[in-house]
Amino acid sequence: MYGIKSVAIDGPSGAGKSTISREVAGRIGFLYVDTGALYRVIGLRFLNTGGLDLDSLNLSMDFTDGEQRVFDSGRDVTEEVRRHDVSKAASDCSALPEVRAFLLERQRELAKRHNVIMDGRDIGTVVLPDADLKIFLTAAPEDRAWRRYGQLGENAPPYEQILRDIELRDRNDSSRSEAPLRPAPDAVKLDTTGNTFLQSVELIEGLIRERLGL
Ligand code: C5P
Repeated sequence: MYGIKSVAIDGPSGAGKSTISREVAGRIGFLYVDTGALYRVIGLRFLNTGGLDLDSLNLSMDFTDGEQRVFDSGRDVTEEVRRHDVSKAASDCSALPEVRAFLLERQRELAKRHNVIMDGRDIGTVVLPDADLKIFLTAAPEDRAWRRYGQLGENAPPYEQILRDIELRDRNDSSRSEAPLRPAPDAVKLDTTGNTFLQSVELIEGLIRERLGL
């Protein structure tokens, strides 16, 4: 559709994709889509039921006021899916081709109807191969673990465990045969190690404005 723009931001967990993308999307008036939350709804369902029946999964999203909320059969699970145990379950489920196929069209539909900044693992490579700009965002595992630790607040497991889990999840996400985590050949690669949040936001906002002519 003419005039609709999309930015794909991929990278490993904890690189700052979601916080940076949300802030930049607000600044440029784009819809921020956190695709990890969709995989997390599936991971939460798996933890709660011990199985995966995608036919009975009624997953929906709402973007009132630009804030993404996710629902499982009408129940708002936006906060619940952030749980640490849901991260691993989401990563495990996301290796299944049927799970990826289930979510693919939903993600593409959003990008057809809205200007989006969409973050995930395979947005530039699989979901939106024609995105106007692709960014692959990374940071040292220790930096990412600290960030996660801070986000989880008082429910955070020990830092060392988060670091181990992040490294395990990186390996899972990069080595799976289905849509592995890797930069698209035409992605701009950015390492945010040592950057402040604001530095990363301004760098990425500048890149987007330049490339998209905003
Ligand atoms: O980004 P977040 O950490 O919330 O994602 C949870 C998990 O969902 C990731 O570890 C990854 O395995 C999976 N995922 C994916 N593809 C995406 C987004 C997330 O495989 N586009």
